[in-house]
Amino acid sequence: MPDPRPRRILVTSALPYANGHIHLGHLVEYIQTDIFVRFQKLRGHAVVYLCADDTHGTAIMIRARAEGRSEQELVADMRAAHLADFAGFQVAFDHYGSTDSDANRRLCGELWRALRAKDLVVSREVRQLYDPEAGVFLADRFVKGTCPKCRAADQYGDSCEQCGATYAPAELIDPVSTLSGAVPEVRSAEHLFVTIEALHGFLADWTQASGALDPRIANYLAGHFLGEPLRDWDVSRPAPYFGFEIPDAPGHFWYVWFDAPVGYLAATDEWCAAHGGRLDDWWSRDPAGRPAAEIHHFIGKDIVYFHTLFWPAMLEAAGLALPTKVRVHGFLTVNGQKMSKSRGTFILARTYLDHLDPAMLRYYYAAKLSGGIDDLDLNLEEFTAKVNADIVGKVANLASRTARWLEPTGLAATYPDDGGLFAAAAAEGEAIAAAYEAGDFARAMRIVMQAADRANAYIDAEQPWKLAKAGPEAAGRLQAVASVALNLFRQLAVYLAPVLPRLAQQAGDLVGGPIRSWDESATPLVGLPVAAFVPLARRVEPAAIEALLAASRPAEPSEPISKTRTTTQGGPPMTDTPQGSATDPATPLEAEPLAAECTIDDFTKVDLRVARIVAAEEVAEAKKLLKLTVSLGGDVRRTVFAGIKGFHDPATLVGRVVVVVANLAPRQMKFGLSEGMVVAASGAGAEGVFLLSPDSGALPGMRLR
Ligand code: 2FM
Ligand code: ZN
Repeated sequence: MPDPRPRRILVTSALPYANGHIHLGHLVEYIQTDIFVRFQKLRGHAVVYLCADDTHGTAIMIRARAEGRSEQELVADMRAAHLADFAGFQVAFDHYGSTDSDANRRLCGELWRALRAKDLVVSREVRQLYDPEAGVFLADRFVKGTCPKCRAADQYGDSCEQCGATYAPAELIDPVSTLSGAVPEVRSAEHLFVTIEALHGFLADWTQASGALDPRIANYLAGHFLGEPLRDWDVSRPAPYFGFEIPDAPGHFWYVWFDAPVGYLAATDEWCAAHGGRLDDWWSRDPAGRPAAEIHHFIGKDIVYFHTLFWPAMLEAAGLALPTKVRVHGFLTVNGQKMSKSRGTFILARTYLDHLDPAMLRYYYAAKLSGGIDDLDLNLEEFTAKVNADIVGKVANLASRTARWLEPTGLAATYPDDGGLFAAAAAEGEAIAAAYEAGDFARAMRIVMQAADRANAYIDAEQPWKLAKAGPEAAGRLQAVASVALNLFRQLAVYLAPVLPRLAQQAGDLVGGPIRSWDESATPLVGLPVAAFVPLARRVEPAAIEALLAASRPAEPSEPISKTRTTTQGGPPMTDTPQGSATDPATPLEAEPLAAECTIDDFTKVDLRVARIVAAEEVAEAKKLLKLTVSLGGDVRRTVFAGIKGFHDPATLVGRVVVVVANLAPRQMKFGLSEGMVVAASGAGAEGVFLLSPDSGALPGMRLR
C-alpha cells in the first residue's frame, strides 16, 4: 500500500575531502544531486540537501605539517574554496557542515556506544609500517617500493600499477616512506574492529531485498563480499592522527571512514538546530521499521563498500533509519580518457568557471546521466555542439525570437489556438518527472528537447518576423504567435528548472514571476506583462574550450598528499617545492648569470620528456659518465651518457623517473651514441649533480611545458 504521508526527503552527496579542490569529476555527483533535489523541491516535497567537508585522516595531518599550519586552518581555507566552487555551479546545499564539528564528535560517540552495547567491538594487535622520521604509522598509500611480484620500482604499498598485483605494504621490496624517505619499520599497535559479520544476515537482506540498491550493485555485493564471512572492520588509528579520540580508548582515534558518514547525521542535526527540527524527524524509524523520512545518498562507485555494508551496519546497530536509496554513479572521463593534467583535462571547478558558463556543464551532464553506474564521458566537441544546439539554439531561441514583440502589449488575454502544442507538452510532464525521479535525466532532457523542437517548428511555420513587418492588421496574429512561443518557452523552463535554475529565473523575470512549482507547466499564462528581453545564454566558442584546456595544463590541483613524491632525504615532511631557508645561497645568479632571454617558441623547440631509467652502468674509461638506458614509454628506449658518475650509484638509479631532452641531436661519443640528455641541476652553493624528478604520477613520454 502506498505510504499516505507527504514525502520528506533527505538527500546527501559524498563529503569531499578537505585536502583537494573540487574538479569536474566531483561535479558529476554534486550537479546530479542538486538536480534531483531541485526537482523534488519543485514537486512540492519537503527536501533537505546536506553535505560537509570530510576533514580527518593522515593526509590532512601531514599536509598541514608540511605547510606549517594547523589542520583547522587548512580545513577552513579549503572549506571556503569548496563553498565558492559549489556556489559557482549553483549547487545549493541546505546545510554544509564539517566532520570536524562538535555535532559529529557527539554523534560518533553515540554510534560507538551502540556498537559497544551490542558487543560489536573487539581489539587486536595490527602490524603496520611506521615512519620513524615522521613519527606516524603509514597508510598503504604512503609507502612505496619495488613490487614483490614483477619487481617494478616505485610502486605504492597496496598494489602495483605495472602488473596489478595487490599485497601488504610490508611485502614491498626496499620500502620507503613517501613522507620522509625513511625506511619504515614494522611496528605493532592495538586497533579496534567492528565485527560486522554479526550483522551478515541483516546486510544480506538489506542489500538484496530492500530496493535501496540498483540490482547491479546488489549483485556485486553478493558476489564479492556476502558469499563469505565479512571481515572485521578496522575503525581505529593510533596517535598521532587528526580526528576524534575515542572516549573509551585514549590514544586511539576513529578512522576517517568511521566519522565521515556520521557527518551525514551531524549535518542533519545542525540543520535541525537551525530550523527548529529534531534529528529523529529524519533518521528515526518506527517499530515497524518505517523510516521517518526518505534518505537518498548519492555516491561514486568507488565508495560503494562503505555506504552499502559499513554504514547500514552502523545505522542498524544504532537503531537508526536505513538509506532508502544509495544512488551510485560512474566516473568522469574527458574525451574518452581519464582526466589528465598533461592533456589539460584535469579541470578544476574554478578554472571552468573562469572560462565557461556553469549552466552548460549542468545541462551536458544532465543530458548524459541515465541513473546507471557507467562512466560519463565529457567529449568537448560534443559538449560544444550539444549545448549550443539545445540551450542556445532550441530553448533560449524560443524567447529571443519572440519576446520583443510582446514588450508593448504583453501576453494575449486568452491563450491562442496553438494546435495542441502546449497541451501535448503538459501531458508529458509526468513522464519527465518520472525520469527525474529515476535519475534518468538523459531521458527527461530528450523529452524536453523534443518539445522544444516542436515549438521551434511552430515559430518557423508562423514566421512572426514577417507578421511584424506586415503592419497593424497583423498585430493581433503577431501577439498570438509570440504569446504561444513565450508560453512554450516558459513551460520548458519549468521542466528544465532543476537543471538550469538561472534560466528558470530569467524566464520568470521575463514573464510570470518566479517559477515555484512543477504544476506551472500545466497551464499557459495570459494577459501578463512581458519584461524587456535580456539575452539568456551565450554560445560556447571553441576558443573558450582551448583556453580552458590551456589554463588547466599548468594549473595543478593540490594533489592528495598521499601522492607526493618519494624522497630519499630524511628530515621533515617534504613538499614538492623546496622550502625557502637560511641555507639558500644568497646570490646564486652572480656565479652563473641568467642566459639571454628566450621566447616561448625558443623554449618549445626543446622537447623535454618524462623518462624512466631502465638500466644504468658505469663507463669504465670515462671519469664522469654513466651509460643510462631510459624509457620514453611503450617500446621507445634511448641511450644517454650522463655526466653524473660519482654522484649517483647506478644501482639506485634504475627505476627513477627523470626528465630528458628528447629531441637533442644524437652525438657520437667515444663510448657510443648518446641520444639525448638527462636534465640535472648543478652550480654554486652545493657540490653535486641533482637529477630532476617529476611529481609522482608523471608517466614516461609525458611532455614538460
Ligand atoms: O571518497 C571520498 O571522497 C570521501 N571523502 C567520501 C566520504 S562520504 C561519507 F561517507 F562521508
Ligand atoms: Zn608488479
